[in-house]
Amino acid sequence: MTKQIKYHQHLIPMKREELVDKLGATLTKKRFEHVLRVEETALELAEENGVNLEPVSIAALCHDYAKQRPDEDFISKIKEKKLDPDLLSYGNAIWHGVVGAEIVADELGVHDQRILDAIRQHTVGAAYMTKLAQIIYMADYIEPGRDFPGVDQARKITHQDLGKGVAFQTKQTLAYLIQKGQAVYPKTLATYNAWVPSNGKEK
Ligand SMILES: [Fe+2]
Ligand SMILES: [Fe+2]
Repeated sequence: MTKQIKYHQHLIPMKREELVDKLGATLTKKRFEHVLRVEETALELAEENGVNLEPVSIAALCHDYAKQRPDEDFISKIKEKKLDPDLLSYGNAIWHGVVGAEIVADELGVHDQRILDAIRQHTVGAAYMTKLAQIIYMADYIEPGRDFPGVDQARKITHQDLGKGVAFQTKQTLAYLIQKGQAVYPKTLATYNAWVPSNGKEK
């Protein structure tokens, strides 16, 4: 089973087991188990798409590292790192990825930009996403604990064609936000425009 992959410790200064222990001690049980399932799904997608497993494992395990932080932590990080001040108009749903990547960099010692981008983009996507970022975006959406109308279709599409999975999720997410009357983070719209018209046509 691919789960026991070994880290070479050039992308994160610890062994996989040490990272898993740290996450187990930091996150709620529910979120910790979600993160492990995201890793499992992400590694499957990595194998299917010929992507290097080590950065996939690290990005998957770290993607929700900051999710339980209080708002103040994100607000001070936005200011400290001089991130886009428009971010202050959003909340945890956007912050834990976009700003959470900075917390992962500072606290876990991950400085690989591909990994950090995958974490940044895991809820909002991006017009351009590496295969690694696409894998984390999709694994978070279809991991075995997810249960929503259409999840089986999402799984099937994603295992057939990763890019079509990205389009599927992006379209569903935007439709959901609009239906609920919620704010759309501009990057989510950019993701939609880049991925959906080209990829997301119903069969
Ligand atoms: Fe997340
Ligand atoms: Fe997640």
